[in-house]
Amino acid sequence: MSPEREARLLLMAPAHRRDALSEVLKDIGTVREADTPERVRSFARQERPDLVVLHAEADAECLGLCAELEQSYGVRVLVIGRDAGMEALRAAMRAGARDYLVDPVAPGELRSAVARLAQVERRARRGHVVTIFGTKGGVGKSTLAANLAVVLAERHHQRVALCDLDLEFGCAATLFGLRPTASIVDVCRHPGAMTLAAIGEAMSHSDHSQVDILAGPPTPDLAAFVDGEGKRDPERNYVQEILRTLRMAYDWVIVDTAVDFGEGVITALDEAERILFVTTPDIPALQNSAKGLDILLERLGYPQEKLSVVLNRGNAAMGLMEDEISAALSHPIRHMLPSDGDVAVRAANIGMPLVLLRGRSPLARAVGRLGGELVHDLERPRVAALSGEA
Ligand SMILES: Nc1ncnc2c1ncn2[C@@H]1O[C@H](COP(=O)(O)OP(=O)(O)OP(=O)(O)O)[C@@H](O)[C@H]1O
Ligand SMILES: [Mg+2]
Repeated sequence: MSPEREARLLLMAPAHRRDALSEVLKDIGTVREADTPERVRSFARQERPDLVVLHAEADAECLGLCAELEQSYGVRVLVIGRDAGMEALRAAMRAGARDYLVDPVAPGELRSAVARLAQVERRARRGHVVTIFGTKGGVGKSTLAANLAVVLAERHHQRVALCDLDLEFGCAATLFGLRPTASIVDVCRHPGAMTLAAIGEAMSHSDHSQVDILAGPPTPDLAAFVDGEGKRDPERNYVQEILRTLRMAYDWVIVDTAVDFGEGVITALDEAERILFVTTPDIPALQNSAKGLDILLERLGYPQEKLSVVLNRGNAAMGLMEDEISAALSHPIRHMLPSDGDVAVRAANIGMPLVLLRGRSPLARAVGRLGGELVHDLERPRVAALSGEA
């Protein structure tokens, strides 16, 4: 599948109309058929189709389902009905449908309406790249990256890719209990253009969550194939190509990094819509972090609003007050995560993200809030903008 992929369509229609409608839709993209509202919901949640075509006769609660798909999943819906009256059209539009076509619908009319809506959706579907960074080792970057990815996928029904750019000692896959057989190195050594299929083949999947994980190199020496002197084509920026390809297919691309200002990490910082800058409340970490923030803001010239400081283990400040910490960083603290070694280290050792293992713990709840705030800040405005279109 190339980044400009085919439209993904989902059809729910009564048995006697299904084949004929499906034939027309196949001219535009891949078509999945669902025969119950439950199937439609589960497909919408997992696959995020570009458009759902609902035939009103397939389900008495068709308009309720339409409203739910639009509101809960941000998925566009086209409704087909037998009723040619204005009231039927108005009711469909009130339920959030992007178009209402009267059946029997001419194939050409259906084809052009579906193609238009699916294309608008594909253009608008640009995922958010969130890069987790920090300038001190061991502050909790990987723990946050893995658990944030799970929160977005499981609680917010988002399609999430987790990309490990700690190219020497990455552990994103390990936090999910995985031992990947392929990694980002395979993607960079793959001949030809960057495609979603090539990245997909190198991704790992855990039974615990829907997050797709692109693991870091299995050994540190292989990092050079990604952003060093081992690059297959020295002119190409593979990390940029990977992140841009992933964001065509995923709602969120969460990037874990190392304390490093190499090409890969700088690219991930440049490409990010939001950088979560992780630090801890101890003087060595705060001093390093102040320098790191200065580099991001002054030398790399990122705007303040691109950066959110995350104070991990914030309740273990041992005498430092929050305003003293902010002053030391010259930057406000946006998110605070509590210290809980019992939960964090146990989860890492078991190989299951802590938000799944101990979902009610204060640490899991704090990561949950952070995820919710990101959705609020970045995804809601996108969905709202989309609602105004088409
Ligand atoms: N809030 C927390 N409370 C207690 N322990 C934590 C917390 N967050 C992370 N840890 C633990 O701290 C250690 C370092 O965390 P992690 O590996 O996520 O940091 P990192 O910044 O990715 O490190 P590195 O720079 O080596 O990549 C791990 O053992 C992890 O379980
Ligand atoms: Mg790490």
